[in-house]
Amino acid sequence: MDSIPSTPGKFKMEKSPYSPFRHRFHSSVAKLLFISLLFLAVFLLFLIKPPPSPSLSNPTEARRNLHSTTWGGQAWEKRVRSSSRPKPHRSKPLIVLVTGAAGFVGSHVSAALKRRGDGVLGLDNFNHYYDVSLKRARQSLLNSQGVFIVEGDINDSSLLRKLFDVAAFTHILHLAAQAGVRYAMENPSSYIDSNVAGFVSLLEVCKSANPQPAIVWASSSSVYGLNTEVPFSESDRTDRPASLYAATKKAGEEIAHTYNHIYGLSITGLRFFTVYGPWGRPDMAYFFFTKDILQGKTIPIFEGPNHGTVARDFTYIDDIVKGCLGSLDTAEKSTGTGGKKRGPAQLRIFNLGNTSPVPVKDLVSILERLLKVKAKKTIIKMPRNGDVPFTHANISLAQRELGYKPTTDLQTGLKKFVKWYLGYYKDVEGKLAF
Ligand SMILES: NC(=O)c1ccc[n+]([C@@H]2O[C@H](COP(=O)([O-])OP(=O)(O)OC[C@H]3O[C@@H](n4cnc5c(N)ncnc54)[C@H](O)[C@@H]3O)[C@@H](O)[C@H]2O)c1
Repeated sequence: MDSIPSTPGKFKMEKSPYSPFRHRFHSSVAKLLFISLLFLAVFLLFLIKPPPSPSLSNPTEARRNLHSTTWGGQAWEKRVRSSSRPKPHRSKPLIVLVTGAAGFVGSHVSAALKRRGDGVLGLDNFNHYYDVSLKRARQSLLNSQGVFIVEGDINDSSLLRKLFDVAAFTHILHLAAQAGVRYAMENPSSYIDSNVAGFVSLLEVCKSANPQPAIVWASSSSVYGLNTEVPFSESDRTDRPASLYAATKKAGEEIAHTYNHIYGLSITGLRFFTVYGPWGRPDMAYFFFTKDILQGKTIPIFEGPNHGTVARDFTYIDDIVKGCLGSLDTAEKSTGTGGKKRGPAQLRIFNLGNTSPVPVKDLVSILERLLKVKAKKTIIKMPRNGDVPFTHANISLAQRELGYKPTTDLQTGLKKFVKWYLGYYKDVEGKLAF
């Protein structure tokens, strides 16, 4: 920078010691050499550059790069068709595409639909948010029951369109999402990617499908956010989310309204309240408390403001499955065709909870009894990173409209979870392998 004159035009070239000819000759050889070197460098760069790979530091890019890699072909189409085919004995069968089928709730509902004779096809991107081997184990179990899980992302519209070409879905059970409240501070874009962009991508394909399917999808009790009215009713305020996760679920509810209004899609949103049970999610407290208690680690128990109790309306997975089936069975047909609305369509939202919140310290006492191990506990103030002090569902609407009636209390449900957990994590020698 120092050699550039501050006033343009004042800079004078030094005289060259070479004759004009020699100067021209040398400069053309130099130019040629420079251009050849440049070509060589570009060529080498192409040769040694590795193919684009999913980047771990950018999950959005990683997920996008997953597209189109593992689907297609005759054998694949055959599996899609066979999985989506209802059993001949089933009267008025549903043909359901379950997104997030390798997940906790998705695997349970897929199995239940298949058992009663409906056609079921799963879709999941097997992301690494938690132990993928657990998702793979659920996949094998479903596979043995005749449910095929297509490996792909809901953001991949060409895959979605292809699935609609191969199978005539009557219903979509949309459970694929980036779950978890605290992880949003670490990886916010994954929430936007799956819960907002992914939902829109799915609705876009559904709206153009002919006939359009009816959609049932998972919202969350977290939309109640800072709401203090108890128990939480569907008509309560949901405009004060306490986490990005909650905000994306709330956005989903508004997006659902738009697609229902413009395109006549029949859409039912389900606000699940802390679902637990066998094959559950390792990022949830009841699950990692079990692991930590067995490993002799200290578990943190949150307390709310002013030493308040933190409580959750824990809902057993079988009750949630019944709520999902009830929603699918009562969903009316979408009214649009070819992307155009032909009349008003059903738009619903339901709480699916258990109506009896339990303090987290009671959850720990139940686990201690079932595991026969005393937990090492430390009480800490609930960090302000998205969790709310309590949840409590009013389920009268779901009771009335879906016949939803939860029947499993926390003690009974945790007993089943612990039995599964000890069996699942026991290695061949009978020791617990985490
Ligand atoms: N479990 C609960 O307590 C609870 C509470 C409220 C709401 N929910 C909602 O219920 C649904 C199911 O929850 P879960 O507990 O089974 O979670 P989960 O994480 O076990 O299941 C979600 C599945 O979706 C898949 N997925 C995520 N993003 C995807 C994408 N872009 N494309 C394709 N697949 C994708 C994941 O791989 C995972 O297998 C989620 O929408 C969640 O937000 C769950």
